[in-house]
Amino acid sequence: MTDASNTAQLTINGKSYDLPVLSPTAGPDVLDIRKLYAQAGVFTYDPGYTSTASCDSTITFIDGDEGVLLHRGYPIGQLAEKSHYLEVCYLLLYGELPTASALEDFEDRVTRHTMVHEQMHNFFRGFRRDAHPMATMVGVVGAMSAFYADSADVNDPWQREVASIRMIAKLPTIAAMAYKYSIGQPFVYPRNDLDYASNFLNMCFSVPAENYQVDPILSRAMDRIFTLHADHEQNASTSTVRLASSSGANPFACIAAGIACLWGPAHGGANQACLEMLKEIGTVDRIPEFIARAKDKDDPFRLMGFGHRVYKNFDPRATVMKQSADEVLDLLGIEDNPILQVAKELEKQALDDPYFAEKKLFPNVDFYSGIILEAMGFPTSMFTPIFALSRTVGWISQWKEQFSDPAHKIGRPRQLYRGETQRDYVDVENR
Ligand code: SDX
Repeated sequence: MTDASNTAQLTINGKSYDLPVLSPTAGPDVLDIRKLYAQAGVFTYDPGYTSTASCDSTITFIDGDEGVLLHRGYPIGQLAEKSHYLEVCYLLLYGELPTASALEDFEDRVTRHTMVHEQMHNFFRGFRRDAHPMATMVGVVGAMSAFYADSADVNDPWQREVASIRMIAKLPTIAAMAYKYSIGQPFVYPRNDLDYASNFLNMCFSVPAENYQVDPILSRAMDRIFTLHADHEQNASTSTVRLASSSGANPFACIAAGIACLWGPAHGGANQACLEMLKEIGTVDRIPEFIARAKDKDDPFRLMGFGHRVYKNFDPRATVMKQSADEVLDLLGIEDNPILQVAKELEKQALDDPYFAEKKLFPNVDFYSGIILEAMGFPTSMFTPIFALSRTVGWISQWKEQFSDPAHKIGRPRQLYRGETQRDYVDVENR
């Protein structure tokens, strides 16, 4: 915990209170209000947590005004270009880039946990074939403690470590199984001879009837998409995981809670919603109609893939994703992809529009990811499951960090109550 460097004064009803000011290594100073209610008998009010720090963290830093994203201090652009997903997983989990031998050992541990308990195959069969893969993932991941009870005790550091590796290793297998189940194809077992991204592609696209060769272009693009989604500070789903964990819930239940929260179209569900929106727009000449709807206060429509609670500049992930979209479509020979053309023109027209400029609405990570994923052969229903499997390491890293604070306690917000004050019960005959 950073020490209070100075204090702020708060005066309420003529009485002054000193609030310690905590100094970060980067970002704004933080007012420590932990004792405010005990001292002054008042709550603070911040329903969307727009000005509230929920924790003390060393994992990821975002500067929304400058469009900066650092993982353990390393810029996302450098990691996307020079690193790969499992190395980024190691960095997020343990705080430093690994030596070659440490990375080899980590990759080997993950590789050897990629299979799931065979009984889980039957678990899938309880779902309808047309279940959204996110529904299946929430259910299956939430039930993992029933299959891996030997790594569910959050008070045992060794079990926390095993659960971490198991989830990073098995989420791609579970996501691929959810996909295969939804299209009526047999599950494909993981292969230890393939790297993480190639293994996922093989589990999704290979069939027993013929050999499947993983395209290295797709594998590199897949790995980069995993890296770009790995962690993002205290977003809604990460905050959900932290809150669920604060009650002592088992790690699998906490990650399932994160998956459920991520599913929303305002959050991780935006990649599916964005591609569906681009397809609804269909052609460049219809873009003004949709921009007008996005600006219309009486129309609930929003440009999916645009805007962000923190970024008031370009989301640095979107910049990398846009470059990757150009590369992948070009390398796949998908010339003049109409959806990509609509996306690029929509971005241009929106960024030229004063409404979006004034409200500092820029493309976010979800704006271009769907275009790449569709070009790779994924249905839109698999976009958010891919976001979820990528973000599992971020959720787990943040979940593990909580245990490093011996003072961590159950999260229990208060409220601004504006309901009825106390009144007596009225018998039904007198109402
Ligand atoms: C992710 O938090 C994270 O880090 C999340 C994430 C991660 O990696 O974990 O980055 C992943 O969730 C990215 C965001 C994906 N969601 C979308 O693309 C959905 C579309 N975007 C929005 O719904 C919205 O921008 C949010 C939810 C992302 C952010 O909403 P805020 O911060 O609560 O902002 P707001 O809703 O208060 O909007 C501010 C203003 C409003 O207008 P006024 O009421 O002030 O007049 O901007 C407008 C909004 O109407 N606005 C939009 C808009 N987003 C905000 N208008 C049109 N289109 C949009 N997309």
